[in-house]
Amino acid sequence: MAIEKTLILCKPDAVARGLVGEILARFERRGYTIAAMKLLTAERARAEEHYAEHKGKGFFEGVVGYITSAPLVAMVIQGSDAIEGCRATIGATNPIKAAPGSIRGDFAQTIGRNLVHGSDSADSAAREIGIWFAPGEISAREHDLKAWLIES
Ligand code: RTP
Ligand code: MG
Repeated sequence: MAIEKTLILCKPDAVARGLVGEILARFERRGYTIAAMKLLTAERARAEEHYAEHKGKGFFEGVVGYITSAPLVAMVIQGSDAIEGCRATIGATNPIKAAPGSIRGDFAQTIGRNLVHGSDSADSAAREIGIWFAPGEISAREHDLKAWLIES
């Protein structure tokens, strides 16, 4: 068990559909907390860097176009094993395969409009947080979390 930070994006469809509050509530109700949060429209270069692992794949242009199409909400969410935990809360990439109760399983229909991004590993989280946030934008409240959330 480790306190982790993970990069969450409420993608443009989540903002347009008014689902940011619902999505954030799913994370907060699990006990994860917000370390950083902002609304912005991603430039193409930032989106390409974020999805660099997918460059050359058939869906790359589509996903970059999707993520840059309108404002999104970027967040750093933190908590115990938050990287894997947030991925579970988000659900499978293709909403048709996502379990009911997950964000994608409850609110999304297609892989091309799947509402949320969550980092998939510690390396990805560190890299992605650096793409979306400057160090000074991220709260350093781990000590509070340890005091009341991680009592075991
Ligand atoms: P994300 O990075 O957005 O959290 O999603 P993920 O890890 O669950 O899935 P990933 O494989 O990293 O794919 C990134 C995003 O690209 C779009 N995609 N489309 N048409 C397709 O086959 C396809 N595959 C992926 C999705 O929007 C996916 O979230
Ligand atoms: Mg991914």
